[in-house]
Amino acid sequence: MCGIAGYIGERENTSEILFNMLKHLEYRGYDSAGIACISDDVICISKDKGKISELEDKIHSDVVSDIGIAHTRWATHGQPSHVNAHPHTDCEEKFCVVHNGIIENHAELRDELEKKGHKFTSSTDTEVIPHLIEDFYEGDFEQAFVSAVKRLRGSFALVAVSLRDGDRILAARKESPLIIGLGDGENFIASDTPAVIHHTRNIIILDDFNYAVVLRDSVVVKDFQSGECVKKEVHRIDWDVKQAEKEGFEHFMLKEIFEEPQAVRNALKAQKDVEGIASKLAGYGRIYFVACGTAYYAALAAKYLLERFGIPSEAVLGSEFRYSTINSIDKDCAVIAVSQSGETADTLVCAKECKKKGAYLTGIVNVVGSSLTRVVDDNIHIYAGPEIAVASTKAYIGQVTSLIMLSLFIAREMNKIGEEYLREMLDNIHSVPGKMGEVLAGVDEIKKLAGEYSGKEIFFYIGRRQNYPTALEGALKIKEISYVHAEAYPAGELKHGPLALLEDGVPVIAIMPNDELLEKMESNVAEAEARNAIVLRVSEDGDFRVPVVDPLLSPLLYITPLHLFAYYISLRRGLDPDKPRNLAKSVTVE
Ligand code: AGP
Repeated sequence: MCGIAGYIGERENTSEILFNMLKHLEYRGYDSAGIACISDDVICISKDKGKISELEDKIHSDVVSDIGIAHTRWATHGQPSHVNAHPHTDCEEKFCVVHNGIIENHAELRDELEKKGHKFTSSTDTEVIPHLIEDFYEGDFEQAFVSAVKRLRGSFALVAVSLRDGDRILAARKESPLIIGLGDGENFIASDTPAVIHHTRNIIILDDFNYAVVLRDSVVVKDFQSGECVKKEVHRIDWDVKQAEKEGFEHFMLKEIFEEPQAVRNALKAQKDVEGIASKLAGYGRIYFVACGTAYYAALAAKYLLERFGIPSEAVLGSEFRYSTINSIDKDCAVIAVSQSGETADTLVCAKECKKKGAYLTGIVNVVGSSLTRVVDDNIHIYAGPEIAVASTKAYIGQVTSLIMLSLFIAREMNKIGEEYLREMLDNIHSVPGKMGEVLAGVDEIKKLAGEYSGKEIFFYIGRRQNYPTALEGALKIKEISYVHAEAYPAGELKHGPLALLEDGVPVIAIMPNDELLEKMESNVAEAEARNAIVLRVSEDGDFRVPVVDPLLSPLLYITPLHLFAYYISLRRGLDPDKPRNLAKSVTVE
């Protein structure tokens, strides 16, 4: 996933405007970056390998310009390097493009263009785009742009400028997000709203097959297949600018962990939507969840909760669902797609395929207006606000809150639980934010534990039933921001092999709610301690102390200390928890 930005207007410090826009898109990718501005009939390009914060002197210039484009990269084709950084141009540097996505037919296009004499400088898939525009150009930039876009296969959000027509920016979208910020005498193009909110709250969201002709004082959107004009709704960004800032926290991740109690409250605001959608879901013969990474763990927790009420369902990873589970989908199926960004390709493509097969689709999404929200039949928004850190924390809490509510309402619809139990459990969920606040108040204890264990090179996480996903999520967090190996297992599985890995000093995090399986968990802990492993308990009286809560809600409360634990271990290991290596906030490629 990459971050794209564009500016056209009356201000002549375009490079500075674009650089600041990129800083708000850095969570989308940060292995290289670049800016291109048109000035005195020249395209001035500055780009290099590295994070935005390291590139200010290299890519931000004082060139006088009122139109330009910019890009921060998460490499898919071609190593992170100066030459592979975007923007890319054609042979004569008359057309300049930035792109997010994958051009699946780039090799054949490159071969065709090289045979026509085009000279390439990078090993990226993107570079075929400016050369295609150049090849099609016969005096009309827009016509050449559309002809080039129609030759592309794969996913793209792309933005182009040209010396041939220096008063407009052209932008096109297919399966990668792109918005247009509407200013006064100026307009902005970006991958996501944090890049434009400092300039305008009014945005247009491009849909697949849309392209836009963006001038200083107008925006026209058309369909690049038909050429027809498309009427677009103007959306107003309703969250506060501060939400996209750190507000005094050292990292976005820490801020977002401390926003977890509010994430529960915000998700609860969708209760009416959840109730209505549950009544639809209850009418289907089979229920599937599809998601990736942390969102998948939230979906897995929902699977366990539904099973507690005697309702079978399946939670499947998007990349597996796409080529396996999809064969079982028909119109008697309900599919719940869970995604913070609403742009994850592995999840999105499953939703589209299930739609084609007649299934009923529900999305559980954080980013309003994201692609997934426009594919599914109904949406449950978690309203967690922008989640900037690559490692998902508050969004996970919002997803689990929504899914617990959904499971309860489905169970009530199916007469598996009564109204009284439902109301009692909803009241219990409302009590979770306060209990979570108590956990957060113990942050210093958790920081101390992280200090004691930050040198460990392997961790085990174990839990049972709805806390097996909690173990998975705890393990993923420490893997992705501390680069430490961590294994998560259903606690009962240790003795079937993994126990061989336990030896002196290996830390085992045991998730132990006070329920009917507590004794079983104690036996698993004893098995581990008999091999001199060090067991750290997440429990009402454990090393990670949590307040009393209904065990069904433990996937919510018991993960917060583990998010903090992973965060502080990352810090102690001298790493940047907000921007872990090799990763991006939303993986918009399959
Ligand atoms: C979570 O911390 C990771 N960043 C990653 O696993 C993420 O949850 C996954 O890519 C799914 O993203 P989504 O929720 O935006 O679909």
